[in-house]
Amino acid sequence: MLEGKVAVVTGAGRGLGRAYASALAATGASVVVNDVDGEIAKDTVESITAAGGKAVAEIGAVGSAESADALVGRAVSEFGRLDVMCTNAGVLRDRTLRNTTDEDFEAVLHTHVWGTFTCGRAAVNRFREQGDGGRLILVGSPAGQRASFGQTAYSAAKSAIVGLTRTWAVECAKLGVTVNAVIPTALTRMVATVPGLGEVVEAVEAGEPVPDQLRRDGLGTPDDVAPVIVYLASDAASGITGQCVGAGGDRISLWSHPTEVASVVREGGWTPDSVAGMFPSTLESRLQDYTSTVRGAPK
Ligand SMILES: NC(=O)c1ccc[n+]([C@@H]2O[C@H](COP(=O)([O-])OP(=O)(O)OC[C@H]3O[C@@H](n4cnc5c(N)ncnc54)[C@H](O)[C@@H]3O)[C@@H](O)[C@H]2O)c1
Repeated sequence: MLEGKVAVVTGAGRGLGRAYASALAATGASVVVNDVDGEIAKDTVESITAAGGKAVAEIGAVGSAESADALVGRAVSEFGRLDVMCTNAGVLRDRTLRNTTDEDFEAVLHTHVWGTFTCGRAAVNRFREQGDGGRLILVGSPAGQRASFGQTAYSAAKSAIVGLTRTWAVECAKLGVTVNAVIPTALTRMVATVPGLGEVVEAVEAGEPVPDQLRRDGLGTPDDVAPVIVYLASDAASGITGQCVGAGGDRISLWSHPTEVASVVREGGWTPDSVAGMFPSTLESRLQDYTSTVRGAPK
């Protein structure tokens, strides 16, 4: 499916990134495996090559222009080109607004938003030079689509990534570059801190199957999400862009984009009194549910 293609996956030493890198390699792509942790990045590469795939490790923290350039440069020097950039690396600092420190906010935004921005920009510059399209696969979260109590920095970062998905899809259309976000849910170390899920993560890591009901509700292993990444990376998905695709367990879903649900026009404009008069009678019945979709669900 992906023979001859070259992909970069950031944060691919473990969890979802490792599953994405392995699935891309198993379907024929050559993969640059990035992680800030060198040991686990090398381990992913070893497991891919042992299975007959092609991969190299490029170790370093994403977030800076230099590290993004190093990833694209490595793809080109090692495998001759770049076709797919998957910006998966991420960290959590789960705290409510009042407890979120500047350092928490900086760490989360640096990895997710700067990591996505710099890697996306470096990849698109390369795609432009090559002149034959490309794939950006960004990584959102349910926490970036709806409210997520206790995730101030993370929901800001993941919402920003969805904004980048939409804007880059429009900007890159004429280059033949598709830009989509996957909204994954999987039992990884990242979700082990969610109340009730720690034991399930432990059991699954020990080799037990994920309970059927959890799988139907959209929660499985990282390998369950990987086929969506392979599809979005493939030529078959050349017409899919600007989308947020949910994937987890036995479910695949499509998220909507925000849209105006009601509007009112007053000739000559509004005064505070006229807004106060109009709001309860006209817009109040259309107020939107801002709460989280699934309470206690993985982030
Ligand atoms: N697990 C889920 O259910 C879930 C849900 C929604 C979104 N996500 C997103 O999926 C992605 C992967 O999550 P995961 O659950 O596999 O997490 P994980 O913690 O298991 O893996 C994240 C990997 O990223 C690496 N990493 C962290 N900072 C990095 C940096 N600056 N540069 C390079 N590598 C770095 C870590 O070393 C680790 O190997 C993240 O973007 C996460 O926000 C996960």
